[in-house]
Amino acid sequence: MISLVPIASVPTSSVEQLLDLAFGTDRHGRTAYRLREGMHAIPALSFAAIDADGDLLGSIQCWPIEIATPSGAVEPLILVGPVAVRPDRQRDGLGRKLVEAALEVADRTGAEPMMLIGDADYYGRFFGFMADATAGWQVPGPVDRDRLLVRLHPGQQVMAEGLLRPRSLAAQTDDRQLRPV
Ligand SMILES: CC(C)(COP(=O)(O)OP(=O)(O)OC[C@H]1O[C@@H](n2cnc3c(N)ncnc32)[C@H](O)[C@@H]1OP(=O)(O)O)[C@@H](O)C(=O)NCCC(=O)NCCS
Repeated sequence: MISLVPIASVPTSSVEQLLDLAFGTDRHGRTAYRLREGMHAIPALSFAAIDADGDLLGSIQCWPIEIATPSGAVEPLILVGPVAVRPDRQRDGLGRKLVEAALEVADRTGAEPMMLIGDADYYGRFFGFMADATAGWQVPGPVDRDRLLVRLHPGQQVMAEGLLRPRSLAAQTDDRQLRPV
């Protein structure tokens, strides 16, 4: 039996080990890490998948970031990921389960647009993330533009141009409105 639990209920060291296994120990240099530098993962949108013995099989973390223009316009976004599944348990639905759990809470609580850097074949096909609206975005590091994805609800809009960066501290107080599950 597999359960999703708040990520804070598993040791940070276990999550770090899982991420090393899934992405490699050089993962910290990735652009996504620069995007959320200094941020804390949003508790209500971050989960661990554990088996009946309590062993960690997968995890998802989501982070408060924002997009800003030189003229000072700022909009909040949520960075999704890393999403990781233990290599010996991949391709068995766990990744989908983790992403769906975060999206379900986000949708229910009217959270900001969710974005990520990842495989469009996966995040587009299963969850509706798309690169169309991100063509004018700038990120603090190298990125394959096909992998810069956002998920918008019908009618929801996001700034077409701007620099992605960690969310300013003042804006983070809004995150407390997201109730833990
Ligand atoms: C990417 C990841 C989170 C997916 O989770 P998962 O539990 O293995 O995958 P799921 O069981 O949810 O989904 C399986 C389906 O997604 C597809 N899929 C899995 N990873 C994929 C990827 N990187 N790109 C495209 N499709 C992918 C599988 O082919 C499968 O499709 P099918 O149902 O038609 O056979 C997981 O494999 C992982 O942690 N990988 C290591 C990290 C990584 O490479 N991330 C790259 C994406 S950012």
